[in-house]
Amino acid sequence: MKKLILALGFASGLFLGTPGHAETAPTITVYKSPTCGCCRDWVRHLEENGFEVEAIDTQNLNTIKAQAGLTPALASCHTAFVNDYVIEGHVPARDIHRLLAQDLPARGLSVPGMPVGSPGMELGDRQDAYQVLLFNEQGQTRVFADYR
Ligand code: CU
Ligand code: CU
Repeated sequence: MKKLILALGFASGLFLGTPGHAETAPTITVYKSPTCGCCRDWVRHLEENGFEVEAIDTQNLNTIKAQAGLTPALASCHTAFVNDYVIEGHVPARDIHRLLAQDLPARGLSVPGMPVGSPGMELGDRQDAYQVLLFNEQGQTRVFADYR
């Protein structure tokens, strides 16, 4: 009987968790300015979509972006790292999940700038068109997702 209860407990933990909460989601480390509100909102978006988030406030974001291989054209407000990937700016959680699932040979994903309507940049009903870019070590990009 004890065994059965343990088994049920295990199963419920796996299957009755928060919807969309992937058991295997890795920790994502987010570097952000301590005063950035949209960065905080993006962190919350990640947490609501299954990520463990380690948020680190820093004043040296430009150094971190340079180390991450981000060109100014790819840059946004916050810079994050998950597995071996760089995640720059307001990238939707679903695209990060897809990148990790596909295990693509790339440096990472970026949403350059701060498009209104991207996760963490909500402003009423406004939805600007934006693209999630997959980029490599050479700074070459291709469109990973298109929102409009
Ligand atoms: Cu932002
Ligand atoms: Cu930000």
